Amino acid sequence: MKGIILAGGKGTRLYPLTISLSKQLLPVYDKPMIYYPLTMLMLAGIREMLIISTSEALPQFQNLIEDGGKWGLKIEYAAQPEPRGLADAFLVKPQFYLGSPVCLILGDNIFFGHGLSTQLQKAAQLQQGALIFAYAVKDPHRYGVVQFDSLGKALSIEEKPRKPRSTYAVPGMYFYDQQVYDLASQLQPSGRGELEITDLNRLYLQKGQLHVEVLGRGVAWLDAGTHESLLQAANFVQTVEERQGMMIACPEEIAYRMDYIDAAQLRSLAEKVNNSYGEYLLRILEEEK
Ligand code: G1P
Repeated sequence: MKGIILAGGKGTRLYPLTISLSKQLLPVYDKPMIYYPLTMLMLAGIREMLIISTSEALPQFQNLIEDGGKWGLKIEYAAQPEPRGLADAFLVKPQFYLGSPVCLILGDNIFFGHGLSTQLQKAAQLQQGALIFAYAVKDPHRYGVVQFDSLGKALSIEEKPRKPRSTYAVPGMYFYDQQVYDLASQLQPSGRGELEITDLNRLYLQKGQLHVEVLGRGVAWLDAGTHESLLQAANFVQTVEERQGMMIACPEEIAYRMDYIDAAQLRSLAEKVNNSYGEYLLRILEEEK
């Protein structure tokens, strides 16, 4: 399984924060926003990733993440000249994933919760069809919305419906089989001029190949797309990290715990960060002894 992180867009809802800085590089408490989706892919066991952003922002991401080798990953980059919708992510650099199943995650989606990495690792085993998630929210009309029948099978999926048929929003993390390129190529722009991920998911639904798993209330799915929700996400991360003494979405730690890097590599990463973040990494090394 390969992974695509879509980190494009103009982030206008966060202006002036995002006039000169990409939204997915803004801090969410103690780390850049993109660390959160990137570590989701790592936890799923995905090590080959493509980061898609605008040509102006790509060098900023490259400066931060490089080729991923420092975290035991292999990361490529591709520019999306225009924000043409989420499903366009599959058309920007298809040679990256063709012939392999692929997970798309949005660069501004933050997840945290017990059992999530097991669920992700299972999802990453997908060979046929599509697997997406459903999460109960108060304001489903802002998202893709999935409706279930009494047996929990997906019945319909709609993008930002005025009258949602359920409270289940579809979070920005999607797993697809090898058909995704052909299906994404068939899509036509929606009313708002975008290739909609919801239309792609509907094609899988029509084929009887859309699996939808509910993310329970023990999982937090946070939005960081407005000033308020960005601050709330940062406060959430700070609260949990302070209380537990453990970091959320720390790529160095995850790389070490997943055996993507060894102790010497972790030590060298830790020694480059002369603050509590670095101390945290050193503490992990101590504990393991
Ligand atoms: C996009 C998708 C929507 C999905 C959401 C998750 O919405 O179109 O289906 O539920 O991401 O974050 P947008 O970010 O374009 O509002």
